[in-house]
Amino acid sequence: MSIYSRILGTGSYLPPQTVTNEELAARLARDGIETSDAWIVERTGIRQRHFAAAGVGSVDLGEQAARRALESAGLSPQDVDMIVVATSTPDMIFPSDASLIQARLGCAGGAAFDVQAVCAGFIYALSVADQFVRSRMARNALVIGAEVFSQILDFSDRSTCVLFGDGAGAVVLGPSDQPGVLASALHADGRQSGILRTPGRVSGGKVSGRPFLEMDGQAVFKQAVHVLENVAREVLDKAGRASASVDWMVPHQANIRIMLHTAKKLGIGPERVVQTVALHGNTSAASIPLALDSAVRGGQIRRGQTLLLEAVGGGLTWGAALVEY
Ligand code: ACO
Repeated sequence: MSIYSRILGTGSYLPPQTVTNEELAARLARDGIETSDAWIVERTGIRQRHFAAAGVGSVDLGEQAARRALESAGLSPQDVDMIVVATSTPDMIFPSDASLIQARLGCAGGAAFDVQAVCAGFIYALSVADQFVRSRMARNALVIGAEVFSQILDFSDRSTCVLFGDGAGAVVLGPSDQPGVLASALHADGRQSGILRTPGRVSGGKVSGRPFLEMDGQAVFKQAVHVLENVAREVLDKAGRASASVDWMVPHQANIRIMLHTAKKLGIGPERVVQTVALHGNTSAASIPLALDSAVRGGQIRRGQTLLLEAVGGGLTWGAALVEY
C-alpha cells in the first residue's frame, strides 16, 4: 500500500522585539541614511519586522517553533526520527542547526541535517522530508525554517536592510494513507548566484569577504515573477490540478507585489493569498512555515484544503509544493 506524507501539525516562533518602519527609519537617520515608512510599504508591503536580541540564534527560534509544531501534532520529541532545518543563518559552521535542535529536544538517534537553499529552503526541506516519509526512511519528520537575517544585514545599505526580519516556523510531516504533499518541484540556476548573496566565509581564523547580504533587487524581482509562475504551474500539472482548486496560496513572503503578481497570473485572487509580509518582513526560509502556522492558528486554513506553497531565493533557487492540508 502506498503511503503519503501529511502535515500533522504546525508551529512558529517570533522573537519578541518588533521594529516598525518608522523605528527603523529613525535608526538609519542617525547614520545619515534616508528611508521612510511610505517607501517601504509602497515597494514591499512591509510595515514591521521582528529582530532577535543579541546572542539569540536560529537554533533558539527553531527549537521554539518545533516544540509548538509537535504540540499541535499531539506528538512528543521521542516520536521524531528526522529533523531537517532550512536555514542560511545557522548558529555554527558545524554542527548543523538540526543536530543542535535535536539535542535541545532530547530525541537523539534519527537523521538530522540542514538544507541551504536560502529563501526557497523550506520548500527544499519539505520536499526532502516528503521523500523520506513516503519511502519509509523516516516516520515523523520535523521540517523547520529558522533565520536570523538581522545578523547579516548591512544597516548602511537601505536597499536591503529594510526588507528582512527574524523568525522560525515548523511542520511535523508524518505518514498517512490520505494524500498530503501532492507534488513538489525544485530548481536552481547557479549562473544567477551573484544577484543575491552573502559572500563572506571563515578562513584562517578570520572572516574573508563581506559577511553581509548583497542583492540586485531589480534582477531578483525580474527572475522571481518569471520562475514562480512557472514552478507553480509545474506542481499543479504534476498533481493534475487546476489553480481553481487551490484554496490558499502560501507564498514566500518577500514582497507583496511579487506575491500578488504571481497569484494574479495563476488566476488566484488576493483573498486566497496568505499575507504576513506586513508583520514579519522577509524571514527567508522561515517565511512559509510562519505564514502557514499563522493562517492555521488564525482559522483561515482548515483541514482538507489545498495549499500552493512557492518560493524563490539566493542561488538562484526556487520551488513549489502542492499540499492537501
Ligand atoms: N528607502 C528609500 N529609498 C530607497 C530605499 C529605501 N529603503 N532603497 C532604495 N531606495 C531608492 C534607490 O536608491 C533608488 O533611488 P534612485 O532612483 O534615486 O536611484 C530608488 O529607491 C529605486 O530603487 P530600486 O532598487 O529601483 O527600487 P525598486 O522599485 O526595484 O524596489 C526592491 C526595490 C523593493 C528591493 C525590489 O527591487 C524588490 O522587491 N526586489 C525583489 C527583492 C526580493 O524579493 N528579494 C527577496 C527574494 S529572495 C530572498 O528572499 C532572499
